[in-house]
Amino acid sequence: MLIKRKEDIASSEITPESLYFNRREFIRAASAFGVGLAARSIFPESLMAQDKWPKGKKGPYDTDEEVNSYKDITTYNNFYEFGTDKSDPSQNSGRFKPKPWTVKVEGEVKKPATYNLEDFIKPYKLEDRIYRMRCVEGWSLVIPWRGIPLADVIKKLEPTSKAKYVAFETIFRPDEMEGQRRPYLNWPYVEGLRMDEAMNPLTFLAVGLYGKELPNQNGAPIRLVTPWKYGFKGIKSIVKIRFVEKEPPTTWNISAPNEYGFYSNVNPDVDHPRWSQKTERRIGEFLKRKTLMFNGYAEQVASMYAGMDLKKNY
Ligand code: MTE
Repeated sequence: MLIKRKEDIASSEITPESLYFNRREFIRAASAFGVGLAARSIFPESLMAQDKWPKGKKGPYDTDEEVNSYKDITTYNNFYEFGTDKSDPSQNSGRFKPKPWTVKVEGEVKKPATYNLEDFIKPYKLEDRIYRMRCVEGWSLVIPWRGIPLADVIKKLEPTSKAKYVAFETIFRPDEMEGQRRPYLNWPYVEGLRMDEAMNPLTFLAVGLYGKELPNQNGAPIRLVTPWKYGFKGIKSIVKIRFVEKEPPTTWNISAPNEYGFYSNVNPDVDHPRWSQKTERRIGEFLKRKTLMFNGYAEQVASMYAGMDLKKNY
């Protein structure tokens, strides 16, 4: 995500995304000579060895596209709590402690409580789901997540009839998350879904990937996954789930309301104000590919937005 402060950036100074991306790629490639080996060594050998997910569609929600490598998925991240470069989350999240962990459920719900993570997920069977993920910046990944459908959790928590939205909050721990010591985003990171979006069978709470526990840089120990929305909806390291009546604030909307809306559905026909959303670069590939409406999940999600102007509700 690109941070822009209106007050101190003249419009002539704003770098188009394509140039920005190329420059970042160049810096990344250049610095790989210097730090590549060091960065690699923070991952246990057993995980680095298991760099391929078995091919093929296993469940009804899986894409049959080729899965990205474990290394791609765990070293090319956005997690601003650990810094703004793609390599920062894997390099700076080593001190973060995702255990023990609690999730607080509050608001319009019949069973508000603070749960230990183990108790929170114990009632459900963990599933593996291979999802296409599209970042608003124009890159994409295919990730084999492990987790539980959010709908199952919500049914068990019993929201009241007043609950129209679900709000999520990331942990605030500036001692372990160096990015939180700087005010480039409003901390803690917050996100939200409309209730029908939260209940959609695709909506997932991930606790792992590649069949392993979620690495810190990917949002350990529990994060949201909504594959038809831009990646920033997928809030990481969740400590609070609140059922609310009104549309909750979301971090990127607070930061740049004309660029990031509440819905954030992947839509090749609605450009970001500073760049096109028509194509994307799959990490690991050279040529760009066309971005699909709702990231290819239209069949499962389009009906939720019937009659809505998706240019206004971006
Ligand atoms: N959650 C928090 N708390 N902080 C963040 O900076 N970045 C978002 C999202 N969740 C972010 C976050 C963005 S912009 C993206 S693209 C995805 O996480 C990236 O997830 P990944 O690194 O696991 O691929």
